[in-house]
Amino acid sequence: MCIYAYFMQDDQVRFFKALGDPTRLSIVGHLMMNEHCACDFQGMNKKDQTTISRHLKILDNAGIVKRVKEGRNVKYSIKDDAMRDTLIRMGVLPVEDCVCCRPLPSNEGIKLMVQDAYGKIASEGGSCGCNCSCGDNFDPKEASVLLGYSEDDLEKLAAANLGLGCGNPGAMGEIEEGMTVLDLGSGAGLDSFLAALKVGPQGKVIGVDITTEMVQKARRNAQELGFSHVEFHEGDIEDLPIPDASVDVVLSNCVINLAPDKGKVFKEVCRVLRPGGRAYISDMVLTEEITTEQRANKELITGCVGGAILHQDYLRLIEESGLNLLNEGVTEGVGERQYPELPVLSVKIVAGKP
Ligand SMILES: C[S@@+](CC[C@H](N)C(=O)[O-])C[C@H]1O[C@@H](n2cnc3c(N)ncnc32)[C@H](O)[C@@H]1O
Repeated sequence: MCIYAYFMQDDQVRFFKALGDPTRLSIVGHLMMNEHCACDFQGMNKKDQTTISRHLKILDNAGIVKRVKEGRNVKYSIKDDAMRDTLIRMGVLPVEDCVCCRPLPSNEGIKLMVQDAYGKIASEGGSCGCNCSCGDNFDPKEASVLLGYSEDDLEKLAAANLGLGCGNPGAMGEIEEGMTVLDLGSGAGLDSFLAALKVGPQGKVIGVDITTEMVQKARRNAQELGFSHVEFHEGDIEDLPIPDASVDVVLSNCVINLAPDKGKVFKEVCRVLRPGGRAYISDMVLTEEITTEQRANKELITGCVGGAILHQDYLRLIEESGLNLLNEGVTEGVGERQYPELPVLSVKIVAGKP
């Protein structure tokens, strides 16, 4: 996925030049919040009205903002939703006029942020997902041992472990020889490969991930590690590219919090499971509501907290999807390690299709 696809080449140059100025960046941040007339920006960075109008013209020429005449006034706003999403993906977030009315990124904007962040992690190597205190010495193996993975498995599958999980869903129940297993948000493939060892060559494992670079990495890992019965597909867990009633076990490790419409994800899980099938889910939930500002924060969204929902709402959505909640617990230490000041919990859930 490439932000440049939105532009032709000349437009790209104009776009980046337009954003390469602190006053214009600040104007854009405010416009992502609300529409404004030029006079609202007077005094910003000690600029007079003529200078502000010149900055707005540059943003207009670059296709970033649009102007609409209302009587004697001209109102400026971000050109359209696609431009808003592009800006969010680049890290240009709304500037607070007032926190209480700050708009949250759109669902599409959240998915673009997620793909951007996890694309970088896939390309640049292991990083903090939801299970570490982000320091320079982050060790994916150490992080995964704390979640209960065996050192032996982690040695064998080191390339597939980026340390992004918040639990060990494959250890929550039986995965038997010959089964078909679906891994939601499969990342570099760790849980998929562990499941592949259990289902054997008569079985099959399918990983689905929304981030192109992750899927490419997982496919490379499958080839290098010799897993011919594991396939990885690019796709959205809100709309799974998987037939109805075709899967025995669904695994999901720290992914559903990143999907804006969790109800849709659980309904998809219910649709693809065979009757009697099981879902083993590790995920981050909230024990208390967080602020709107935290919900709009890119690091918190991609770090598995900004998009998390309240624990009781998560369980309710599972039940409403048609799945039965069979077992529930907590993976101790995960939330506390990375977000000691935030009300987060890593839950482990077993749900079944009747
Ligand atoms: C925190 S990482 C976990 C990766 C993997 N499950 C693990 O434990 O190593 C989240 C993964 O979910 C993927 N993801 C996020 N939102 C998704 C969505 N809506 N559909 C499919 N994959 C998604 C991301 O691209 C990323 O690879």
